Amino acid sequence: MTDMLAPLLRIDSSADGEESVTRRLTSLFAKHWPGEVRHRDLAADPVPPIREAYARLGRRVERRGSVPLPEIAALAADDAERHEWALTLPFVTEVREAGTVLLGVPMYNFSVPASLKVWIDRLTFPGVFADALRDTRFVVVCARGGAYGPGAPREGCDFQEPYLRTYLTNLGVAPEHLTFVIAELTRVADIPVLAGLEHLAEESYAAAERRVLELVA
Ligand SMILES: Cc1cc2nc3c(=O)[nH]c(=O)nc-3n(C[C@H](O)[C@H](O)[C@H](O)COP(=O)(O)O)c2cc1C
Repeated sequence: MTDMLAPLLRIDSSADGEESVTRRLTSLFAKHWPGEVRHRDLAADPVPPIREAYARLGRRVERRGSVPLPEIAALAADDAERHEWALTLPFVTEVREAGTVLLGVPMYNFSVPASLKVWIDRLTFPGVFADALRDTRFVVVCARGGAYGPGAPREGCDFQEPYLRTYLTNLGVAPEHLTFVIAELTRVADIPVLAGLEHLAEESYAAAERRVLELVA
């Protein structure tokens, strides 16, 4: 069962601040969360990209099958590998300690922001989650300027939600613990070709807000 008393880990990745739709929604969720909230802002405080020593240490760990987390440091062969592991462990630990992980994810160029992808690549060190996420709930709040639903001109061009669903389930998140909340047409006021769709944008945002409040209740 999902442990509601374990902390909420809120991760934001929008480059925008006050104007960000995902930040508005993740902030609403966090405001209503009854317990401890830990917050990581991947845009304000970017994760360092992985380097060669990360890949080397990762391969060594993979070759041994499953290595318990506390034993990985001892497998580092040099300072560069120790450094890469020291950079990685805090990200792994905070996800493992969370009862719920709340991801705020804007669509950038049909996919996820680079800030989030860098976090994903560093976090996903071989074997560190094994079955650790079986009971962890993930709520993924997405926003996109356009529309990607059935019948939209860009139907089939959403590489954000399908990518994150595949990534997270492959990481060991149970499908029943994975929920997406999506606000579409967020740029309706800025992009002339979207004019006339204001009512759909409003409906989409209102539905996303209702869903966030339902999920945190
Ligand atoms: C760099 C960049 C790339 C974007 N690419 C897309 C895109 O491919 N498709 C789309 O529908 N909207 C795109 N947008 C619009 C954002 O998805 C939209 O503004 C969304 O609300 C972003 O989330 P946020 O409000 O939390 O920042 C892009 C915005 C930026 C800044």
